[in-house]
Amino acid sequence: MVDQSATLAFPAGFRWGVATSSHQCEGDTTNNQWWDWEQAGHIKTGDHVGKACDWWANAEADFDRAQALGLNALRLALEWSRIEPQPGAWDATAIARYRQMLRALRERGLEPLVTLHHFTHPLWFEQSGAFLASDAVGLFTRYAERVVQELGDLCDFWCTINEPNVYCTFGYQIGDFPPGRRGDVRATVRAQAALAHAHAAAYRAIHRLQPAARVGWAQHYNIFDPANPTNPLDRLVAHIQDDAFNEFFPRAVFAGDASFPTRLLAGDLSDVRGTFDYIALNCYGRDLVRCDPRLPLELFGRRFAPPGVPQGDIGVGELYGEIYPAGIGRVIDRVRHLGKPIYITENGVADREDRLRPWVIAEAARAMHAAIARGADVRGYYHWSLVDNFEWAEGWGMRFGLFGLDPTTQARTARPSAGLYAAIARANALTLAMLAHYVTAPVP
Ligand code: BGC
Repeated sequence: MVDQSATLAFPAGFRWGVATSSHQCEGDTTNNQWWDWEQAGHIKTGDHVGKACDWWANAEADFDRAQALGLNALRLALEWSRIEPQPGAWDATAIARYRQMLRALRERGLEPLVTLHHFTHPLWFEQSGAFLASDAVGLFTRYAERVVQELGDLCDFWCTINEPNVYCTFGYQIGDFPPGRRGDVRATVRAQAALAHAHAAAYRAIHRLQPAARVGWAQHYNIFDPANPTNPLDRLVAHIQDDAFNEFFPRAVFAGDASFPTRLLAGDLSDVRGTFDYIALNCYGRDLVRCDPRLPLELFGRRFAPPGVPQGDIGVGELYGEIYPAGIGRVIDRVRHLGKPIYITENGVADREDRLRPWVIAEAARAMHAAIARGADVRGYYHWSLVDNFEWAEGWGMRFGLFGLDPTTQARTARPSAGLYAAIARANALTLAMLAHYVTAPVP
């Protein structure tokens, strides 16, 4: 029995879950654009996704692990390239496997939250121009409809698109994701606008087929703070970065609009307005921003993590910035006035040695509890991730799992944070002892 007076208790039914994605976990996703990107030599570590976490053969063993931790929810993605390997051709075997996986989750008391697009899509869709092609919205909607027809009896909780801002920024601005364009501001905005229309059309299509469905998308929010809060130029460039990276999609969905001058490229977004039943937030880090007139391509702001702040393991490319779980509370406060249920659909850290993860989990729980106490309707938390998985262009170099994975042998090893997360989930509470132990300044 948990002593309620010594705990920060969460509302009954709070979802404690883990978040995952198809390409990163299933293995042999040979028919999507990321497989192609890997063959072309774009994984910075030279790693191969290969069997990933071998979920196509045996996701169930990891579902057992999630159940054993006492979790009650799991976010997974469908691989469009398996379901529709050629335009208009549907693969019954792939659909049957997803039915089996969803059933396996339900049998274990894990409520599925299903993402339709988590950065990957069929190669034929990529080759036709992906979301910049004129028929993209129709193609995505047709796929969403098919999925709901095939799987709707097993799932009513849908996330149309994962992190449209990350997908577009890395694909068209930074160039680390396919199609690998750099500095193409026009395509970055146009692709996000197309994704917003695709999301809205899928939202409506899903509701036509399944009126009680809960449909949203997952928004990645990075915190941008001025390097010197008393300097108006630092404040201005931090605000510009925040608006450009974080706010395009929320503004499209919440208001049916874009800010000036983005509006000139994005066009009319009024059809997108109001197409959300819940708000899904993916929160990881924070950048400080200093005004630098020499960096027009970075909107005149130099982003950095100051020395001494907690940081996850360093990848080959850019630093992932400061790990900042307290940002969860700040992001919730931006959206809670909308009055919709809020889920933290990703939060975590690349941390092979588990030096920061326990603090991240405890601090995230503290931040959510405080937000609930302020009146926010926070319903769940999905830690990224259950098992180490393939971290996109960083390959196997960054380890986000509650369980470590040896991709060669497929052996798993629980990290200590798995035990902490299990204790929180089972108690549906953060005990004051955990708070005292973990929510102190972490070792950077
Ligand atoms: C993505 C995941 C990724 C995680 C950790 C998120 O941006 O949705 O696919 O693995 O962050 O970097």
